[in-house]
Amino acid sequence: MPADAIATDVAPQEIRLADYAPPAFLIDTVDLRFDLDEAVTTVVANLNLRRNPAAPADAALHLDGEALTLLRLTRDGVPLTETDYHIVKAGLVIPDMPDACTLQIETRIAPKDNSELSGLYVSGGNYFTQCEAQGFRRITYFPDRPDVMSRYTTTIISACPVMLSNGNPGPTIQFGDRRSVTWTDPHPKPCYLFALVAGDLVSVKDHFTTRSGRPVELGVYVRRGDEDRCAHAMRSLKTSMTWDEEVFGLEYDLDVFNIAAVSDFNMGAMENKGLNVFNTKYVLARPETATDTDYQGIETVIAHEYFHNWTGNRVTCRDWFQLSLKEGLTVYRDQEFSADQGSRAVKRIGDVRGLRAAQFREDAGPLAHPVQPASYMAIDNFYTATVYNKGAEVIRMMATIIGRPAFRRGMDLYFARHDNQAVTINDFVQAMQDASGVDLQDFKLWYHQAGTPEISVEDTYDPATKRYTLTIRQSTKPTPGQPDKYPQVIPVAMGLLDGNGQQLATRLQGDPDPAPGTRILLATRTENRFEFIDVASPPVPSLLRDFSAPVKLSGLAPDRLRFLAAHDSDPFVRWESGQQFAASVLLDMVAAIQAGRDPVTDPALIEAMASTLDQEPAFAAEALALPGEASLADKMNVVDVDAIHTARDTARNAIGQALCGQLRALYDTLTDNGGYTIDGPAIGRRSLRNACLSYLVAGGDAQAVPLAKAQFDTGANMTDVLAALAILSGVDCPQQAQALDRFYQAWQGDPLVLDKWFAIQALSPLPATAQAVRDLKAHPDFDLRNPNRIRALVSSFAANQVRFHDRSGAGYLLYADTIVQLDPTNGQVAARMVSPLGQWRRFDTVRQHLMQAELQRILDLPGLSRNTFEMASKSIA
Ligand code: TRP
Ligand code: ZN
Repeated sequence: MPADAIATDVAPQEIRLADYAPPAFLIDTVDLRFDLDEAVTTVVANLNLRRNPAAPADAALHLDGEALTLLRLTRDGVPLTETDYHIVKAGLVIPDMPDACTLQIETRIAPKDNSELSGLYVSGGNYFTQCEAQGFRRITYFPDRPDVMSRYTTTIISACPVMLSNGNPGPTIQFGDRRSVTWTDPHPKPCYLFALVAGDLVSVKDHFTTRSGRPVELGVYVRRGDEDRCAHAMRSLKTSMTWDEEVFGLEYDLDVFNIAAVSDFNMGAMENKGLNVFNTKYVLARPETATDTDYQGIETVIAHEYFHNWTGNRVTCRDWFQLSLKEGLTVYRDQEFSADQGSRAVKRIGDVRGLRAAQFREDAGPLAHPVQPASYMAIDNFYTATVYNKGAEVIRMMATIIGRPAFRRGMDLYFARHDNQAVTINDFVQAMQDASGVDLQDFKLWYHQAGTPEISVEDTYDPATKRYTLTIRQSTKPTPGQPDKYPQVIPVAMGLLDGNGQQLATRLQGDPDPAPGTRILLATRTENRFEFIDVASPPVPSLLRDFSAPVKLSGLAPDRLRFLAAHDSDPFVRWESGQQFAASVLLDMVAAIQAGRDPVTDPALIEAMASTLDQEPAFAAEALALPGEASLADKMNVVDVDAIHTARDTARNAIGQALCGQLRALYDTLTDNGGYTIDGPAIGRRSLRNACLSYLVAGGDAQAVPLAKAQFDTGANMTDVLAALAILSGVDCPQQAQALDRFYQAWQGDPLVLDKWFAIQALSPLPATAQAVRDLKAHPDFDLRNPNRIRALVSSFAANQVRFHDRSGAGYLLYADTIVQLDPTNGQVAARMVSPLGQWRRFDTVRQHLMQAELQRILDLPGLSRNTFEMASKSIA
């Protein structure tokens, strides 16, 4: 007798790390059979269970289940009735269990009705699964937790020409118009790494031979017609495989590695064992459709998911509180990989920009949480910049403190100890400590304390004794649930420059010899004092080189910033000092506007910009970009969105005007005359050239807009076309509508390119933008079921500070409307959109009330998802 157990409204409840208990039962093997049909798919699961010796001997068996229809349940061949088990809201409980048995569970699911894109769903007529974090329970009843690791065999029966799962495939058997194939995965894994893909897909194939001689068949599966956009993904995959062998000694461990691309996907990509599933955005690229940023994103995400094969899959997480064990470490690994593919310095600058924009902002708001949170309501809400990007910074700091060779030994020890286990962050740190001999116990506070430490420095030089004293002070502001903060162990990579900008050898009191280059100071207390001896003349300190710790360093005098920007040997500090100097100029302009005066651009800023023009192009482009409006907002107690916008526009206008001739000359020399290539130097040239174009238009030169339009019309690659379109979309001119229209006509049928068309319009700083976004939500190509399209239009709009925060509240209203419309069908994505509204505390009272009212409207929604409830309730508090 079928019993319906569709969990609709799970009461929001906190799950706590402190409550962790091992599973009552382990499952050694899982055998799955899928009979695929869009409306009615049946799943037969055969589970071999045995009681966990680490759990109480009489414990009941709990299986998670959601949106399932139970058709049949047998134990060792004997059908169980509802007196033997209870269906509960979130699953199924069997109280009386033998020590070992086989359960056979038959369930029915409806993939085409699955709009949450979690579990088994249909996209574009094909079948895909997404099981992380808790989607497997939407496929069958199962202990959906990562510390239950099993060997899987998966049989797929359907009419589809392509049927993929984890591991290695067996032969395909044809019967009538249907076919069946069985995949065997020899490696034990948690159920969140299960995957199934089936449909009318085409593949691009290649081969890789591992260092020890294992031949691996590689496949990228896409929709028919997309075959010509897979080359970059395939190349990135092979480069990643080689890099992991060379840098970490890690080889691939199956005979096949497949990637399948899907256009409806909640996140970027997923590391399922042997069958990664990717958002098309991170697979498909050719020069006419993808920008340099897209190409770099693909390389990074392909690497990230591939690297999970060891950091995540072979060694996995004991529970979801350990999420950063795999994510922080894997982000660190993909960052290092990408740094090795191009300019390390420019890569680091980009990563730090991203960290500040997403993670520092998270740390400063109501959703601040530690890299290892202590509780959550919905785990999907914790795939955050803190867990991923701050987690990666914490790994990087460990590598900095113990040194690269010890870090590699620590990785080796981690795999030697924990291969095929589900472990904790603590196990990882222990391996690093044991391999290095460095005590990391105090360092672990980085995992548990939320908030961004702020450091300030004070220095004195005594010409009589030739001593230089550097005092570093640190503090961290309170975050929700953590009012009192402790000092962190902060590695400060630094050097000293003499008056000519030459790097000095440094010798701390007690050092046997002076050290020539960058050295690491460890700040461990509220205040640390470092005494340097034999310092010939008053030095300028260069601090936090390569951004050695995720902290805020402020208070350096503008003249020191300009000096460092011009002279330091560390490119990160050069860039950073230039940005901080620019920010101080812009904030002075904001203050002038607030005082009712006209903002005047400091000539020193224009001079600093001019002096960056002849630097290496990729670096120059980074240095030329003024701090963004949101990052200026982060430096204000009460954000003044309009004054920030005006100040930045004024400075861009002044720079564009003053440097017009130089910018135009540089623009003309930086052409792709050797032909279009996608490599670091070529990307750097395009990026600087487009920065020049943007300043030329900002400067208001009469030739500039036509120049941008000409680049748009003739640009042979998407980087140049889109840069021109973005520039035009910021100017009220007839060319804007012409270009947008032409772009739409050209790319109407291409979802990923059409996303760019939506995003560009949402990002326009012009006053009509909020209305334009509202209208675009009604455009026939807008689709609330496609997360990429929602992000392209509506999330981009939230990143448009001056328009999203319009005093009328029109921006907040349309944004909250979208969350309200989306929550019933995709709670995961709706919840992830809430955080911009949670920034209300940083704004004036008018905007505060408007934002709070929208959060309240969301919270009042009947049947609100647990995911969105968690984000909105925490954001309003
Ligand atoms: N593990 C994935 C990654 O970082 C993240 C991910 C993909 C995910 N899809 C998801 C997380 C869905 C939550 C829900 O590579
Ligand atoms: Zn990941």
